[in-house]
Formats: sequence, structure tokens, C-alpha cells
Amino acid sequence: MKTHFRLNPAMALLDRRLFLRRLTLGAALFALPGAFAEELIRTPPQTQGPFYPDHLPLDTDNDLIVVNDGLTPAVGEITWLNGRVLDGRGEPIRNALVEIWQCDNNGAYLHSQTGNRENRDKNFQGFGRFLTGSTGEYLFRTIKPVPYPGRTPHIHYAIKLKGRKELITQCYIEGHPGNEKDGIYKGIKDEKARKSVTVPFVPLKGSRLGELTARFDIVMGVTPEA
Ligand SMILES: [Fe+2]
Repeated sequence: MKTHFRLNPAMALLDRRLFLRRLTLGAALFALPGAFAEELIRTPPQTQGPFYPDHLPLDTDNDLIVVNDGLTPAVGEITWLNGRVLDGRGEPIRNALVEIWQCDNNGAYLHSQTGNRENRDKNFQGFGRFLTGSTGEYLFRTIKPVPYPGRTPHIHYAIKLKGRKELITQCYIEGHPGNEKDGIYKGIKDEKARKSVTVPFVPLKGSRLGELTARFDIVMGVTPEA
């Protein structure tokens, strides 16, 4: 059974460094009194859409590129998708279950009613889960989302906290020309809220495989009890 990312040691190290750097930067920002707290924009809820998997896959880990012990990775631009789950004051939330689902590189979801079903990439997991620790960080290895008929590229999110109503939202690619024509995206009327779900997908420094990284922080409208 696959338990975690299977990376060569160099990549694993790179990834840890990336994380350490980010954590340090994050800590520095939060150390400035009052510098950040008031600017947190609550992540706007978005429609769940019709394609949350109707049958959950057997493999639901945070690596969507490889299904179980498959040898062939998914087709697409590999992206390290990460961020933090925060409460309204900017404090990290632990034990938040972050779920993502998205279509494969051919626009097909892991769903019996998906469009383009006959071309679905069997090597793409399509759905993944991550439970946050004390830093509130989450991480997925997935693909850069692609458009499908009627939608600009997006990744669906559900954030589940024990005893609370889940937050359902979507994350978008900064600068994608399809965004301005997308009714669901434009349905977020507040410009700052719209910006908060729109993130750059940028080359991962040092990656010889042309991988990307994208960071999407999620701000919940609640302050969970300790
Ligand atoms: Fe969708």
C-alpha cells in the first residue's frame, strides 16, 4: 500500500526545505503585531458542483499523481499544491480535513456522470485528503487544473472541522483568461474575496521535471475551540 509520496531523496529534501522556508517566513509575518491580522479575507464559499466522487476511490491520500502502486503517473503539469487552514484571527487550525477533487488533464472527473468519461486518465486519482497538524499546513501533489466545457480551470475544496459545517470552495489560476468568462468565478462579487481564491501557479525552484507550486491559504469564518 502506498503510504506517502515516493520521491527520490533529493526531491524529498527539496520539498522539506521549501516547507521550512515557508514556515519561517510565515512565522516572521505573524510575529509583526497587527501587521496581518486585519487583512485576512474569509475564504468565500462556492458551489460544490455535481462531481464530488459518487464512489470514493480506494486511494484517497494526498498524492493524486499516482494511484495505489501504479507505475504510470497521471498526465498533466505536476503541481505541489499547499497552504494553510486558518481561523478568522490567522491562527492555524489543526485536525482540519482538507479534501480536493478536480478533473484530469482531459477534463474528466472521477464520477460516473462525468463528461469525456471514455478518455478519463485512469492514472489520475481525481480526489485526495489531508489532515492538518498544528501548523495548519496541507499539501497535495496533483496536476495544474485544465478547463472543461463551461468552466475555467479550478480545483474543488471541502474543509471539514469536527462539529462544524464544512466549507466548500474552489481555487483558481491567477491570470487564466477563462476566469473572467466563468459565471461561478464571477459569482464571487467581492473583488478581494475573488482574489483570495485566485493563486499563481509558478515553477518549483530547482525542479528538473518542470513541476509547479501553488499556495492557497484558507481562512475559515470560525475560531474552533481548543
Ligand atoms: Fe468542477
